Amino acid sequence: MKEDRVNRASPLFHLAAADSTNLAAKRFAEGGQRLPFAVLADSQSAGRGRRGRPFYSPGDSGLYFTYALASPADRSPGQITCAAAVAAVDAVMTCYGIRISIKWINDLLYRQKKIGGILTEQTGSRLFIGIGINLWTAGFPDDLKETAGSLLKARPSEDRRLILARTLMEALDRRLHDEPVETMREYRQSLFHLNRLILVRSGTLEGSWILTRNIDEFGRLVAETEDGTLHILEDGDVSLSGKDAL
Ligand code: BTN
Repeated sequence: MKEDRVNRASPLFHLAAADSTNLAAKRFAEGGQRLPFAVLADSQSAGRGRRGRPFYSPGDSGLYFTYALASPADRSPGQITCAAAVAAVDAVMTCYGIRISIKWINDLLYRQKKIGGILTEQTGSRLFIGIGINLWTAGFPDDLKETAGSLLKARPSEDRRLILARTLMEALDRRLHDEPVETMREYRQSLFHLNRLILVRSGTLEGSWILTRNIDEFGRLVAETEDGTLHILEDGDVSLSGKDAL
């Protein structure tokens, strides 16, 4: 394991392999590591997404990263996930000049394919923000390649992944301390499906086609159903099309 300090307060622990960087970060915290800190792994054997879904994390192909911090008292879980998504958009723009977009609430998209996501978990007063980004999917199985996009045309070097991780730490620090109103404005601007018809795949309204009218200040989706009624969704999965998982 290598340790790299972005600044004196926030070490970045770089592991060659992890089961999941969220789990590794929890173990570091339980072992007494002071918050905040970050964990980066070159691969994960048990990378996870929301609802216990696996997150495919082969060696040297993506960014597998967790930021551990004291839970901010002044942010709702939805606002934290939205701030992390905006930080990922910022960091990818800074490092690669590529504008990615967001699918509510935690998916990162590029060219209409999922390139990553965010898994935020809370344990007591500690918060673990896991971020996975596919940088290069050449070796992905064919079925995954249909829905998983990637950002780069060549395998990312260790240096490039480290630079992205450090940039992401800085972006997270900034976005988690920004006025939530400002971060939510940026979130809406990066949202792929504002005023577009999408399918609700789970949660309340499951199976309905809705128009995304807004994301409110707490990160909830304001949905309009066919009869013109407005609903507020706290949680759930939405899909850009009826055909695939995206
Ligand atoms: C999702 O697609 O629902 C979220 C995926 C989050 C994946 C990242 S990779 C780093 C961190 N460790 C994990 O096990 N999950 C997150």
